[in-house]
Amino acid sequence: MKGNESSMKYLFEPRGVAVIGASQTPGKIGYKVVENIVVGGFGDKIYPINPRGGELLGLPVYGRMADIDGPVDVAVVVVPADRAYGALEECASKDVKFAIVITSGFSEVGNVAEERRIARFAREHDIRIIGPNVFGVYSSASSLNATFGPSDIRSGNVAIITQSGAIGIAMIGKTKVEGIGLSAMISVGNKCDVDETDLLEYLAFQDDSKVVLMYLEGVKSGERLVEVLKKTTRKKPVVVIKSGRSSRGAQAAASHTGSLAGEDKVFDDIARQCGVIRAESIQEALNWCKFLSDAAMPRGEDCVIITNGGGIGVLTADACEKYGVNLSDEIADLKKTFEDVMPSFGSAKNPIDLTGGASPEDYDKALVAALHNDNIDSVACLGCQTGSFDAERFTQIAEERYAQYRPVKPIVFSLFGGEEVERSIVELKAKGIPVFPDVYEMTSFLGALYRDYRNKSSVQAEPAKADIDVAAISAAIACARADGRHFLLAREAQEVMRAAGIPIPMSRIAHSPDEAVRFAEEIGYPVVMKVISKDIIHKSDAGGVALDLVNTK
Ligand code: ACO
Repeated sequence: MKGNESSMKYLFEPRGVAVIGASQTPGKIGYKVVENIVVGGFGDKIYPINPRGGELLGLPVYGRMADIDGPVDVAVVVVPADRAYGALEECASKDVKFAIVITSGFSEVGNVAEERRIARFAREHDIRIIGPNVFGVYSSASSLNATFGPSDIRSGNVAIITQSGAIGIAMIGKTKVEGIGLSAMISVGNKCDVDETDLLEYLAFQDDSKVVLMYLEGVKSGERLVEVLKKTTRKKPVVVIKSGRSSRGAQAAASHTGSLAGEDKVFDDIARQCGVIRAESIQEALNWCKFLSDAAMPRGEDCVIITNGGGIGVLTADACEKYGVNLSDEIADLKKTFEDVMPSFGSAKNPIDLTGGASPEDYDKALVAALHNDNIDSVACLGCQTGSFDAERFTQIAEERYAQYRPVKPIVFSLFGGEEVERSIVELKAKGIPVFPDVYEMTSFLGALYRDYRNKSSVQAEPAKADIDVAAISAAIACARADGRHFLLAREAQEVMRAAGIPIPMSRIAHSPDEAVRFAEEIGYPVVMKVISKDIIHKSDAGGVALDLVNTK
């Protein structure tokens, strides 16, 4: 077991948990946290701390940490910000390994100095801090609900790391409604010490967590996160919701958690390279998480759509292109597979159109045929409510065939229609069968499954390191620094690009219009002209860039 892995284990499976600021007053956070830990079933190694002493929910209240017998690995801190430092001193007196500092009033409101002070103290005493400004931690491995969120958390195999407290607390309830079970839920808040990378590194190897979902606004240790993401996504799917995509969203993130959202395109590209499955919305992420942990893995790229409606088949084909799902085009093979199943006027081109008269039995035959064809790697089965579409019978068939498909290849369903169809969706979903009311939702999930498949199956060779002339890059930067600049001039930037092996267009520095024309003719039209000046960094804003210049003579 690696260092981080073995030490993080104490956060998720502590031998004892103290609550500093435990209160007798229902409604106070210090009461709710103790109540959640008790009700959650953690056991009896719970130590409420409050100088008033007494008893709380049947537990003795300790005046000081030093009075506790036995180890305390985690302390939840729920005293006001000006008392948090003292609470950490208490933690140090008992060799506490993790302090979950729920308290707000630190860097998120500009109190950076106090946050640094507690972080420094914790570092000096080997205490890891979660937070401050968090709602707590849940771990199914020890039935520990050290949060002030809902008491009733459904356990399962999705781990959630969230930078937003409110989203995290609401997700506890929402995941329950969606039938998603949690292996862990960690609120990272201001991340003065433990961050998403530390947690992901642990969760990557934790068997209970089959899928990791992260809500991020900004990232502090970018390079480390990239490394850990690359390793984790080869083992299990990592779904990320990263807000601050737009400029207004990025501004909102800066005032919410003080995060720098950064250029979204950069995050998006890095996320893709790391194998992250990035969701657009919370609902999309939850749709994926619900089924990703349990779905069969495809063995190849070829998907077949089976439908009773041409239009809905076409919509799904569009969605497949959008979400990177490859539709099988082996026409001869498809024709042979489905020829006994379809009417003569149906289509054996992908999407396989059983036509509007298809009965549940026709679907059944088509599903069995697709199941037994090894060239078909996954199946998307669509049902539009028609006169011959018996939703109840279809539900039975879907359930039966799903059980057969499950060990062999993925199958997903999308049903569209009235009340009976909606009932079928609820029924199938409750049984863990991937069924969606909309073909785009269905295909988005299938796309996520394929991303996971590609992450796990592709040979993840590290790209060959480019021949980079680090000395030349350092020299260009040193030159700018010596000149008192925090930016590179165009010429220096070109030197850096060349030294990094990045191809750049041919260029010359002209000092007069005649010289510019001569250089343009040497290079060849069309050309671009840019102003070069130490005083003009944003050239376009100053009207200093002219594109597509041609010789009109
Ligand atoms: N050791 C032990 N107990 C102490 C100590 C100490 N050193 N000092 C005070 N206490 C006791 C208090 O006496 C009190 O107990 P009592 O009810 O018996 O009197 C208890 O600790 C709590 O102290 P209070 O002063 O009553 O503080 P209160 O409960 O009002 O607030 C809190 C504390 C909840 C930490 C508050 O300061 C805070 O930060 N609230 C915001 C929390 C939050 O939202 N976090 C982010 C979540 S994420 C999201 O956005 C949803």
